[in-house]
Amino acid sequence: MKKPLRIAITGAGGQICYSLLFRVACGDLLGPDQPVILHLLDIPAAEQVMKGVLMELEDCAFPLLRDMSASTNPKAAFRDCDIAFLIGSRPRSKGMERRDLLEINGGIFKAQGQALSEVAQRTVKVLVVGNPANTNGLIACHHARELDPRNFSSMMRLDHNRALTQLALKIGHPVHDLQRMTVWGNHSTTQFPDVSQVLVNGSPLTTILQDPQWVEQIFIPTIQKRGAAVIEARGLSSAASAANAALSHMRDWIRGTPAGDWVTMGVPSDGSYGIPEGLMCGMPVTCQEGHYEIVQGIELSPQSRSLIQQTCQELSSEKEAVAMLLD
Ligand code: NAI
Repeated sequence: MKKPLRIAITGAGGQICYSLLFRVACGDLLGPDQPVILHLLDIPAAEQVMKGVLMELEDCAFPLLRDMSASTNPKAAFRDCDIAFLIGSRPRSKGMERRDLLEINGGIFKAQGQALSEVAQRTVKVLVVGNPANTNGLIACHHARELDPRNFSSMMRLDHNRALTQLALKIGHPVHDLQRMTVWGNHSTTQFPDVSQVLVNGSPLTTILQDPQWVEQIFIPTIQKRGAAVIEARGLSSAASAANAALSHMRDWIRGTPAGDWVTMGVPSDGSYGIPEGLMCGMPVTCQEGHYEIVQGIELSPQSRSLIQQTCQELSSEKEAVAMLLD
C-alpha cells in the first residue's frame, strides 16, 4: 500500500464539504490503492459541527482513511498537506457591498496562502472554491511566496460540467460523447461557455447542431445563471454538484485528462489568448503527470474574443478592488 497523502479541506462544517469529505475518504479522488489523511479546517463557531462530521467519517469505516483531525488554525490544518481544497469563505450577508465581500474573503485567503507557503508540501496542489473563487485564488497564490503559482487553481469545473450536460441534452447524446468544452473567464454571470471547439464522438459539433441562436440566447445565459436557478429551486446553493466538480478538478489535475480531451480550470494566465497575465482565469487545460498546460492554438472568432474580453474585464476589476491585498 502507498504512503498516505494528506488532504486539507477548509469550510469543513459547510454544505459542500458534507458531500466532498466522504467521497475523498472512500477513494473517489485518488483511487482504491491510495490511503488518505484528512485535515479539516473551519472557524471556531463551526467546531462542534466539525466534531459531528468526524464522528460520521468514523462511522463509515472507510478502509483508505488512515487518520483525520479538525482544527481552527490554518497552519495546523495545512501542515505537510499534499492537496488543499480551500472551500470555506464568508457568505454575503444582508446589506454587504460586493467590495466588502471581496475584502473580507481576500483577508481569509491571504492568511491561508501564507500558511500554505509556510507549512504545506512544496508540491501541494491547491484548489480555491470559496467565492469569489478566481480572485480568492489570485490572493492565496500571491501570498504563497515560497510556492510555485502553478500550484494554485480556482474552480470553473462546475460551470464546465453544467455546460456539458445542457449541450448533451440539446443534441440527445450522452455526456460521454462530448469533448473539448471550455468555460472562459470568471466563475460569475460574465463567464463564457464556449462550444466552438466541442467534438461529438470525434466530429465537430457543427455537423450535428447549427443553431447559433440557441447557443447565444438559451445555452450561454442558462449556464451563466445556473447557480441562481439551483438556489431558486433548492433554497440552498449548489453543494453536491460543487463537491463533485471539486473532486473532478483535482482528480484530473493529479491523474491526467483523457487523450484528445481537455477540461476547464481557473489558472494564472500566462498571456495566452490576449488574457492579461496574472489573472486567475477559466481556460482550457490538459493535465499529465500532475501538471497542467493551457491549450494553445485555438482559433477564436471576433465574437468569442469579445466575450472573453468582457469576463476578463470583470476579473481585472475584482483584482483592482482587492489591490490593497496584493502588495
Ligand atoms: P457553507 O456556508 O455551507 O459553508 C461554508 C463553511 O466555511 C462554513 O462552515 C464556515 O464556517 C466556513 N468558513 C468561513 N470562514 C472560514 C475560514 N476563514 N476558514 C475556514 N472555514 C471558514 O457554504 P458552501 O455551500 O459549502 O459553499 C462554500 C463556498 O463555495 C461559498 O463561498 C460558495 O459561494 C462557494 N461555491 C463555489 C462554487 C464554484 O464553482 N467556484 C460553486 C458552489 C459554491
